[in-house]
Formats: sequence, C-alpha cells, structure tokens
Amino acid sequence: MTTISKDVAAIVAKGLSPRRPAPATITIFGASGDLTKRLIMPALYNLVRADKLPDEFAIIGIDHNDQTTQVWRRNLTETMQGFARGRGGTGDAIDERAWSWLVGRMHYMRGDFTKPDTFTQLGKQLADQQKGQEAANALFYLAVADRFFGPVIEQLGGAGLTRQSEGAWRRVIVEKPFGHDFASAEALNAQILKILSEDQIYRIDHFLGKETVQNILVLRFANGIFEPLWNRDHIDHIQITAAETVGVEGRGRFYEQTGALRDMVPNHLFQLLAMIGMEPPISFDADAVRGKKTELFHAIHPISSDDAVRGQYGPGVVLGQKMQGYRQEPDVAKDSATETYVALKLGIDNWRWAGVPFYLRTGKHLSARATEIAVQFRQAPYALFRDTPVERLPANILTLRIQPDEGLSLSFSAKRPGAEIEIDGVDMDFAYRDYFGPLASVGYETLIYDCLIGDATLFQRADAVEAAWRAVQSLLDAWARTPVTDFPNYAAGSDGPDDADRLLARDKRKWLPIRTEHSHGRQSA
Ligand code: BG6
Repeated sequence: MTTISKDVAAIVAKGLSPRRPAPATITIFGASGDLTKRLIMPALYNLVRADKLPDEFAIIGIDHNDQTTQVWRRNLTETMQGFARGRGGTGDAIDERAWSWLVGRMHYMRGDFTKPDTFTQLGKQLADQQKGQEAANALFYLAVADRFFGPVIEQLGGAGLTRQSEGAWRRVIVEKPFGHDFASAEALNAQILKILSEDQIYRIDHFLGKETVQNILVLRFANGIFEPLWNRDHIDHIQITAAETVGVEGRGRFYEQTGALRDMVPNHLFQLLAMIGMEPPISFDADAVRGKKTELFHAIHPISSDDAVRGQYGPGVVLGQKMQGYRQEPDVAKDSATETYVALKLGIDNWRWAGVPFYLRTGKHLSARATEIAVQFRQAPYALFRDTPVERLPANILTLRIQPDEGLSLSFSAKRPGAEIEIDGVDMDFAYRDYFGPLASVGYETLIYDCLIGDATLFQRADAVEAAWRAVQSLLDAWARTPVTDFPNYAAGSDGPDDADRLLARDKRKWLPIRTEHSHGRQSA
C-alpha cells in the first residue's frame, strides 16, 4: 500500500489547491435552516481544520426568526458537537480551536427575504465586516426554498450588492432544485441573468461535491488504459444506480410535487452520466469541462415512456425495520400518483455511444443504499473453452462505487484451480479507505472552497441545466398525461418494481443486484 501523509492525502483526495482564498464574507440566507446546520457549517468547520479559509473571513446569517447572534452561535455549537462525532466528522469531540475561530466570525441578522429593508441593512453589515479587510469580496449563499431564489437575487441587485469591482467579487450559490421542468428552469435563468453574469452564479449539484464523482474524470483521463475501450466497440451497456434505503424523510409536501424523476434524474444521475459519458475536455478549465457535459445532455435521445418505469413503495421491511407505504406518509395524498422510483433506458446519439444503452434507476426505500456506475464490457467474441459457452462467461464489469462503500472494482474471468478448465468470475478491488483513510468531509467543502477561489468547474452552467431538463421533458409530459393504475407497485425494502426488470429483460440484460458490499465478480460460469 502506498504511504502518504494524512495532510497530503487530504489535499490530493479533496482536490483542493494548496492556496487560501482571498478575504471574503459569506452571507447565508436560511441561517436557521437544515442545510446550514447539516452541511454548510460542518463544511466550513472542516475547511478551517484544513486551513483553507482566509484570516479575514466573516459569516452573516439571515433568517426570518428573531434571535440574537449569541443564540444562533449557541444553537449551531450544539449541532456541531453532534456532527463532529458522527459521519463527516472525525469521530472525536469538536476541535475547539477550529470551531471558536469560526464562531467568533459569525453574525446573525433577522430579515425578511422579500423586503428591500433587509438588503439595505445587509449592505451596512457587509460594509462593517469588510472595514479594514483587504478586499470586499462577498459570497451570497441561497440556502432557502427555491421560490426565494429569483426574489433574493433581485433584491441583492436592487441594493447594489451584486456589483463587482477590482478587489470585490460578488458571487451567488444557488441550491437545488433549479426549476421543476424545462420552462421554469429557463425562466429562472432568464430572471437571474438580468442581475448577475453567468460567472457570478454557482448552481450546486451536491453530487459533484462527492470525491468519488470527481474521481471519475481522473479515472478516465489520467489513466491510459480505459479511454481506448471507452466506446461502443467495447462497451455493451452502462448501469447507473442511486438506491436509497431512506423514504421521504418527513418531506412529503415537497416530494408530492417533485417525485423521483425530478428529484434525482436531470440533476444527480445526469451528473454521473455526464462524467462517465462526456468527451475529453481540452483542459480542466470550468468552461471546457462544462461545455463537454452540456454536449452530452444535448445528445440524449428524447425518452419515450416505453423506455421508462415508475414505481411507488408500499409497506414493507427496510433493513429489518417495518415501514409504512408512501401513501401513508405525512403530507402525502392517500391516492398519490407521485413516483418514488424511476428506471430509464437512455440512448445517446453520438459517435462514441450510438447503440450503447444507459440504464438509470433510483428509488426510495430500496433494499440497500448504494450509488454506483457499472460499465459492462462486451463479451469475448467466441468461447475457446470447451463446456463454457460464450454467454456463460462472466462479464467484465468495471464498477465505480460512488457511495457508501467508496471504491472501484473490475470483475473478470479466471481459471478455477484444478485439473479441469473451469472459469469463475473474480474481482480486482480498490477501496478509498485503504489508501486514503477515512476523510472528514460532508461533501460541501470542495464546493464552498471552489466558489471562494472562483473555480466553477463543479457547478452547473445555465445551458447544462436547461439541456438536462429538456432531455427529460418528453417523459414528464407523457407521465402527466397518463394516470398510473398500479401504485404502490413495489414493497419497501425490495429492489423496485418488476417492470424495471422487464425493461432490461427485453434487451436480454439484467440489473446488477443492489447491495452495499460489492461482490460482482462472484458469479460462476
Ligand atoms: C437530494 C434529494 O437532492 O439528494 C433527496 O432531494 C436525496 O431526495 C438526496 O435523498 C440524495 O443525496 P445523497 O448525497 O444522500 O446520495
């Protein structure tokens, strides 16, 4: 095993450049919200520990509720104590030095996101914070419900807070969901591009904050062995799975309007699709990478409803625990037609991928939590081995395990030791934790850091968001026109509806089993 110092490993694995960002103030809209507690603050804390924030740094938190800076700081301190010990933390008590560095720079401001006063007051606060700072850079983080994205940006513009000058960049992070279909995404882009230029907008897709997702490009383009095989001549098909064991986690109201297709496909699953399917960019410059991703979205064949399966979970048992059906969840209609599962077959109309199906699936309350991409190579052309017909040779599958068991494996055929020639499937395996140790990361560190240094590679550009929505629009429309009659059609804790199996069986293919622990190669010939 390679030995590598922990710090260097953290930098290499996180892809953070060794430099520190210029002085800046972050304003968080939605300071009392869940995202701030669960992800933004822990990520900032991890950045302090990695020494990746500038000394001249401040945080202004804005929200509707009336609380003092002291109370805001105290509440977040309590949450952080739990976080430090849990997933994304180091497992130890909170690092007091790092946390107090951050807490001392946090200021709370009560404000209504729709009132101009709030923004006048914010302007004054920012000026106060930035007095004596070398630069008046400001990042506005919209950790708020999507209906506020447009209005907050308009108010920021109205108060003159988005104006940039030498030594004063102004950037805005916009969270998901960015629109709920093609028309709304296009309208939101048009609204915010009246105030901001594209290079000021950082649209988040948190899947791009995952190390394993960033590693896909390294795997493909920093290694000579994969790219020559990465095309229709050698690849039979690709499966992309994002299976979750959680249900809708109390978000019934949001989910009823959204469903699995909107929630996961044009954003998270398409990010995986783009990383695995895009053409090589001419550089790792933000626009070069994002241009290639957008091209891929444009090449997606319009999805027909014959190539799509929707599902909704009924009652069942997930990881040994009894679960109610989706229609019994709070804030969900008793006859809800919202899908909690979707499986799709996609075709990509370009030279590299013509004729290679991409099968995508995602769902709530499935049997295991696993996000992975499996690239299945074509079979060897003929069976040299007596008694092993070619269709029974185990397939070569390169599996990229995105989470939770992060790593990569290649399954191939080997001779089982013995006098007879018997062929068995075996695995070559790489696990991140073996090389780099556990990483203290919530997946937002790189995103926030990149925004502070002005690197937009991992953020979504307007044209990509619109192209992704456009690719699923025909299916959204078809589903809206055809009522479902068979919901619920899979039991919580299963691998999804039977129709999803039929989608692949039609093409004489099979989904790989959904499981957290990998063992794809263990299939006997
Ligand atoms: C969110 C979706 O964007 O991504 C959730 O709204 C989903 O429904 C989540 O559970 C999945 O993200 P992760 O990082 O937990 O795989």
